[in-house]
Amino acid sequence: MTPTLSELERLARHAGEILRQGYEQEHQVDYKGAIDLVTEIDHQSEELVLAEIQRLFPGHQIVSEEIGLVPGRPGDQWFVDPLDGTVNYAHGIPYFSVSIAYAHAGVVRLGAVYDPMRDELFAAERGQGARLNGRSLRVSQVTELQRSLLVTGFPYDAWSNPRNNLEYFGRFSKLTQGVRRLGSAALDLGYVAAGRVDGYWELSIKPWDVAAGGLIASEAGATVTNMAGQVDYITPPCSLLAAPPGLHAKMKTVMDE
Ligand code: IPD
Ligand code: CA
Ligand code: CA
Repeated sequence: MTPTLSELERLARHAGEILRQGYEQEHQVDYKGAIDLVTEIDHQSEELVLAEIQRLFPGHQIVSEEIGLVPGRPGDQWFVDPLDGTVNYAHGIPYFSVSIAYAHAGVVRLGAVYDPMRDELFAAERGQGARLNGRSLRVSQVTELQRSLLVTGFPYDAWSNPRNNLEYFGRFSKLTQGVRRLGSAALDLGYVAAGRVDGYWELSIKPWDVAAGGLIASEAGATVTNMAGQVDYITPPCSLLAAPPGLHAKMKTVMDE
């Protein structure tokens, strides 16, 4: 059984409802690392999404942030981030999302990213374009760094990891209109698709953060690669660079310097 985009959309909206209902409540915060948190809502959202995938598509493999790997056929693979933007969520900052992607034979085919606070659903099917609440999306036409607004993120081991992205953050801050750190990689990529920001990059990212958003940005016209310039951006170790073609090339040059 192959899923449809509307099934992913329904799942993302349903999980988003859990996030919306739990928002601004007191949370039980656990630490997975020094600054890497998880709340009870991450788990509740994940339980719902995984139960639905397993009910509708038994035998598919699922890679989900909190639970890890649910074994199954690797040719039918799901990438789930039940709450992307947990730090924002735990602090009451309304920028976070649910991210769900389906890949067939190692290629992402379907992706949905839902922002429950703005009721914005970014979605794409490979070869069919990207949509926001049903409206067709297109990346910006910006090709000059000087005219661009970028967004990025940092890994949870940034205190100790030499590839913590601060070097690139500094470089791009001096070459562009600015670099935002909004806090949800999946939603950042939806914003690239919508042309709200021009480009996104992140050095050390997980497949569940970017599987759906990468497809959505790509279907909206972005060039999407890992830092090595390869189109397979979901095979770990993952990194991502997504921007309109001309800008992508210029960002890559800056990062290769
Ligand atoms: C994080 C967010 C953040 C990105 C981190 C991710 P989480 O995911 O997407 O924007 O910079 O790399 O780990 O932990 O909130 O699901
Ligand atoms: Ca995430
Ligand atoms: Ca998460």
